[in-house]
Amino acid sequence: MTKGFPEGFLWGASTSAFQVEGAWDEDGKGMSVADYNSFKRSDRQADTKTASDFYHHWKEDIDLMAELGLQLYRFSFSWARIIPDGDGEINPAGLAFYHDVVDYLTEKGIRPFVTLYHFDLPYALAEKYNGWEDRRCVDAFERYARICFEEFGSQVKYWQVINEQNLMIRVDERMNINIEDNHEADRVRAQMDYHMFLAHALAVKACHEIVKDGKIGPAVSSTCTYPLTNKPEDVWAARMNDYMKTVYCLDMHYYGEYSGIYMRYLKERDIVPKMEEGDREILKYGRPDYIAFNYYRTLCASYLPADEEHPVGMRVYRGNEVDFDQYGYCRDEKNENLKASEYGAQIDPNGLRIVLNDYYARYHLPMIITENGLGTADVLTEDGKVHDDYRIDYLREHVRACQLAIEDGVEMIGYSPWSFEDLLSSHQGFRKRYGFVYINREDMDEKDLRRIPKDSFYWYQNVIRTNGKEL
Ligand code: BG6
Repeated sequence: MTKGFPEGFLWGASTSAFQVEGAWDEDGKGMSVADYNSFKRSDRQADTKTASDFYHHWKEDIDLMAELGLQLYRFSFSWARIIPDGDGEINPAGLAFYHDVVDYLTEKGIRPFVTLYHFDLPYALAEKYNGWEDRRCVDAFERYARICFEEFGSQVKYWQVINEQNLMIRVDERMNINIEDNHEADRVRAQMDYHMFLAHALAVKACHEIVKDGKIGPAVSSTCTYPLTNKPEDVWAARMNDYMKTVYCLDMHYYGEYSGIYMRYLKERDIVPKMEEGDREILKYGRPDYIAFNYYRTLCASYLPADEEHPVGMRVYRGNEVDFDQYGYCRDEKNENLKASEYGAQIDPNGLRIVLNDYYARYHLPMIITENGLGTADVLTEDGKVHDDYRIDYLREHVRACQLAIEDGVEMIGYSPWSFEDLLSSHQGFRKRYGFVYINREDMDEKDLRRIPKDSFYWYQNVIRTNGKEL
């Protein structure tokens, strides 16, 4: 038995549109960048065409959410389902689908917590404008956000603007960046990032104007980086890894301007984005009502000196991996003190306590975890069950870390792990599963898509029932 959690603490679970919905072109939906990228791998793993088929199973899935006892469901709207080409006609069937989902969640007493954009830019915008590089994408997003707030604002009070802007920007495929030249790629990336900051701020403003009692904020991919040694330059490198990957983003949301250290990087690298008059005022609107973040693992860094061939600020991206080394700042290292998941994520519940305390001390905003979980190759055993005790262990330790952080004085609104059900992982299809509910399909065989609650489902049900007293 533990002391439990504060009254009103929200227990949730999360998913995103392209990872669960399927029906990628049904009822008028347009293609997204996430669809496009998944189709490149269709010959060897599941793509977005069916995914978990939530589009055809939403009612059954929400019934399972109710059985689990969820108080909050964090999911995303697909921009291309609502506006197929991103900035043109509205698709009434897209709105109707999300109305059905939101109505039924409300009927079941589950709070809808909607992300507007989770890695799935309408592909038409990538074709027309090269996506976020062009400022017209900002206008398109603001319009889309306003449409959603007008349409759903009476029922949806919790909103998230962009999922993991700070991570997405590091993955070329997600941004549709295909540029060989390292410097030019970084220039485009910085411009795209800046435009997303504007879009974020405009959406925050629109939400506050339109949604009565609405709360809105970002969902960043958190980082907690340890120095490889106690050499002062490694300690600085660890700090810089966090600054370059996460803190710069939260600072921009909160203060409406780049931190000194980040501006120094943009200047050193000669990639300061183009800004217009009036942007400063727009960015000041962006202050969120809460900070949501996703947490899976911790990182480790050593100092990486710059040299003639590798100027200060130059980053090295490795394909679709999310971490980079940066000359003059930091090198990504393995932490030998931590166990890693079978996919290399260094598991560290204590890091979650550190991040909660750090962000709270810096911004003093309420915190909510919008993703946390263990991706593994689960097995459906002969008894028709999934015995995922390893996931229960992982989640239990992370829930304990939240409890400790609350005792440390951090104000937490809730915990919404990844994921409610198995879904298309960003790069490992259905081989890597995170869900409380098993979806009976394999990468290349859709089987019957049956929903099977795993052992972790029943464990979490009891956690919710006892408000965290029994873990
Ligand atoms: C987060 C994303 O970065 O991590 C999710 O918001 C993603 O969309 C999750 O699925 C887990 O990552 P992966 O690569 O294991 O699917």
